[in-house]
Amino acid sequence: MIKRTIGDSRPLNAIGLGCMGMAAFYGKPMEEADAVKLLQEAVDLGVDHFDTAEMYGLGLNERQLGAAFHDRREKVFIATKFGPKMDANTGQRLGVDGSAANAKRALEQSLRFLNTDHVDLWYLHRRDFSRPIEETVGAMADAVKEGKVRNIGLSEVTAETLRAAHKVHPIAALQSEFSIFTRFIETDGILDATRELGTTLVAYSPLGRGMLAGWSKDWQANGWDFRASMAPRFAGEALENNLALVEEIARVASDLDATAGQVALAWALQRADNIVAIPGTTKLANLRQNLGAANVKFTADTLARLDALAAKVKGDRYDESGMKSVNG
Ligand code: ATR
Repeated sequence: MIKRTIGDSRPLNAIGLGCMGMAAFYGKPMEEADAVKLLQEAVDLGVDHFDTAEMYGLGLNERQLGAAFHDRREKVFIATKFGPKMDANTGQRLGVDGSAANAKRALEQSLRFLNTDHVDLWYLHRRDFSRPIEETVGAMADAVKEGKVRNIGLSEVTAETLRAAHKVHPIAALQSEFSIFTRFIETDGILDATRELGTTLVAYSPLGRGMLAGWSKDWQANGWDFRASMAPRFAGEALENNLALVEEIARVASDLDATAGQVALAWALQRADNIVAIPGTTKLANLRQNLGAANVKFTADTLARLDALAAKVKGDRYDESGMKSVNG
């Protein structure tokens, strides 16, 4: 097991669990009893970092975590996020509210849903472009002073925003999409900035939303699924192109006696020693497999084969409106 810290945390398993898919975006939400079972089994397997957000199922995901962890709170590091507003009836996005009033409201709700008196890591989920980052981070810092939040994080922001925020309060974590297929943090100076500031880079969608871990052309959405309608990388010619690239990952994996998903996770963790990955899964067998990634080691040749792939990926990771909300 590789261990890494986030802010003032104890050393945590570098492979955490992204919980979004249990409640939203990837088909039907899990039944609460199933989600609780999986979350508790994850703890038993050594997972201690769980990532959720206000917007994942409009509180459903936080409530799943609250039900699973209320009696084992000291064993888990819980990260949640606020900012994006959604219509409770239609699920339509209503922009981002990084005001002090919304921060206060969201945190009280998260604490209630999560069944806890503190959040270990509290992120601004997306930048609110209508106000300076300093204002939002200042409001988040007040929650640290009150003892309700242990560490502050940002998600999908530029190196410049990270540096400005860090002057107001130390930023323990920056969460960005990072995988063999999505490497902008290495070229935009973001990863360098996190290393310089002592910020942990939390890599989300390290499995490329499942594409790098055994996605098949025969895949059918089970209920509303983001990948079926809002992810250009998963559509048409781009999908064909990208699935052909995944075959190369599968070949590397077979040479290493690993799975493609394990190769993808090991690759992300080995890019820098301040990276933790939060693959998402709803299945215990996949969780076990993902945790096995900590043992995968690359030769210079296998790394070079993987490093050559990103430049060949086609299709944006989000649709036009989604792309406007990132790189804030
Ligand atoms: P996100 O951060 O958005 O959750 P991700 O971690 O890159 O994205 O990938 C999550 C997807 O990979 C999920 O669809 C998950 O499906 P299951 O819930 O069915 O597991 C899939 N996934 C995760 N681990 C996997 C594994 N070991 N094998 C196959 N698919 C896996």
